[in-house]
Amino acid sequence: MSDGDAELEARLAEQEAFEPPEEFVAQANVTDEGIYEEFAENWPDCWEQAAGMLDWFEDYDQVLDDSNPPFYKWFTDGKLNASYECLDRHLDERGDEAAIEWVGEPVEEDNRTFTYDELHREVNEFAAALREMGVGEDDIVTMYMPMVPELTIALLACARIGAPHSVVFAGFSADALATRMNAADSEYLLTCDGYYRRGDPLDHLSKANTGLEGVDHDTQTVVVERLMDGDGFDHDLADDQHSYSEVVAAQAGAEVDPVERDAEDMLFMMYTSGTTGKPKGVKHTTGGYLSWAAWTSHAVLDIKPEDTYFCSADIGWITGHSYIVYGPLALGTTSMMYEGTPDYPDRDRLWEIVEEYEATQLYTAPTAIRAFMKWGAEYPDRHDLSSLRLLGTVGEPINPRAWKWYYKHIGDESCPVVDTWWQTETGGMMVTTLPGIKTMKPGSAGPPLPGVDVQIVDTMGEEVEAGRAGYLTVNKPWPGMLRTLYKNDERFINEYWAEYSDTDSDDPADWVYFPEDGAKIDDDGYITVLGRVDDVINVSGHRLGTMEIESAIVGVEGVAEAAVVGGDHEIKGEAVYAYVILEEGQEPTEEMRGKIVQGVDDAIGPIAKPEQVVFTEELPKTRSGKIMRRLLEQIANGEELGDTTTLRNPEIVAEIQERAQSD
Ligand code: WT7
Repeated sequence: MSDGDAELEARLAEQEAFEPPEEFVAQANVTDEGIYEEFAENWPDCWEQAAGMLDWFEDYDQVLDDSNPPFYKWFTDGKLNASYECLDRHLDERGDEAAIEWVGEPVEEDNRTFTYDELHREVNEFAAALREMGVGEDDIVTMYMPMVPELTIALLACARIGAPHSVVFAGFSADALATRMNAADSEYLLTCDGYYRRGDPLDHLSKANTGLEGVDHDTQTVVVERLMDGDGFDHDLADDQHSYSEVVAAQAGAEVDPVERDAEDMLFMMYTSGTTGKPKGVKHTTGGYLSWAAWTSHAVLDIKPEDTYFCSADIGWITGHSYIVYGPLALGTTSMMYEGTPDYPDRDRLWEIVEEYEATQLYTAPTAIRAFMKWGAEYPDRHDLSSLRLLGTVGEPINPRAWKWYYKHIGDESCPVVDTWWQTETGGMMVTTLPGIKTMKPGSAGPPLPGVDVQIVDTMGEEVEAGRAGYLTVNKPWPGMLRTLYKNDERFINEYWAEYSDTDSDDPADWVYFPEDGAKIDDDGYITVLGRVDDVINVSGHRLGTMEIESAIVGVEGVAEAAVVGGDHEIKGEAVYAYVILEEGQEPTEEMRGKIVQGVDDAIGPIAKPEQVVFTEELPKTRSGKIMRRLLEQIANGEELGDTTTLRNPEIVAEIQERAQSD
């Protein structure tokens, strides 16, 4: 490091606030500070601005129907189609422009560009193929797909015919696929033969087929051929399985009118982890969700049609839904899709892509930024990243050091960084600075977006003082919100509303949304999100329920009981730590440990695999029999232990600690 660099580092390390770069402000989509007041005074009509990002087939009657909280309805009786919004309406002006730039794993030069015209044609053909297979309006189509273009095509094809999709992350296990298809009564599956990871072909269809064995109703499957000749595995398609290329070829040139969907009709559902073992089927609608995705893409990501916008997330998560597919394409921009990992063939892969495609925005996760930081600035330094205009992060808190590294080494101190807090359930961003207006404070996501009403409260629901830790709550509904949990209104109320609402009331003022995050607020109204307060672990920005992992471990033969907690991890943010009691007569061998790790892999997927498995004869329990997870977390983090006097079995704690350390 040169002296100049060292000086700069020192200055950056101390600086607590950063102004939006002038050059950025001069061209930003949203620059009028008055928007905060305007939206507050004009709520809920302010959300006409979001709806106004779309071309509706039929205008809505009411912006918000709040007569039956928390079952809010937005843009009532409005009619639209998400595939039309993302494709058809751009064709006249942008038909020849790229909609998707797909960058495959670098096995061969097989990157693909889809113009809006081409994407429109492919979506129409696959929509026709889905219909031919019998998919009707409101039939749920499951997708179990890696980051290949057919996934985006399929989402929009479903939207075109009014069939909600349910995407299951390709890294999830066969069991996870089966559970989700069963819960959604989904009779259709889109999957693929395989895909590439670090240059090697991976057999995906075998996993999908194992999953299908666990589905309790008849299904039809479409299989995308991703692998190149010679890399395939020995698969014969069953009678109820069809080749993607064949069903699409049969529909060459087909056109399918986009069906008119009601604003409140389901666009998709997405399963996410909660406190209990069963994943939650979050339901999103066509009008509210799409307006939210489009508006936040415009206001926060500053997307313009001529941009080449790059979000490195996977479409298997909500970030990819809202900010690779629906938001960017609704705005008619070029959205990048990257199939591979950031470190193959080398650790400069993302920077190579940014340079080659002249990406204008990069939206990624703190876990990735921490890895980049660890690898060192030499990798981004190899490339010209000057096309970048804005940087974003999402998924977990970002510490000021990582924020500043991103700001300096990727953004060259000339790009605003938006730290966006939101969730699967919120549909899109909720708390973040507006990049053309607000001062940025590393480590704090920022104020709530205009029109979003957030309070930090104590357990009684009273607002806490600035600087004190409390719970994040949302006090008014917003268009992008989930409408319910699929076929489970009661769980919807219990999970998100019961904590702080008067659930007997019909008055929307008595209803408060609780996202289960801890947070604090400063004197300027900036919010620092502290993390989940439920039993959910955030591994590399992915939400995993401790109960889900525990039940996977208890499912392993010979295991009697298990407790799982999240411990700190340098790159992943949090990692899974498991404390396991074996059945009488079972030995705590390496083989047993292997079986436990495999059991979690089978039930959920590799991301949930425990970092450490500690065998013990007992778990620390309170006198009422509750496991003291706090103590286990302290053990996982190698921290000093808190008070153990309220335990029924205080002596076990030191023993577990000793075993954890000697492993
Ligand atoms: C949870 C939601 C939002 C899409 C990706 C994850 C945490 C998310 C931030 C942020 C601090 C964050 C919260 C939230 N989270 N963004 N900017 N700062 N924490 O979606 O899987 O639904 O997880 O991720 O804990 O509740 P998800």
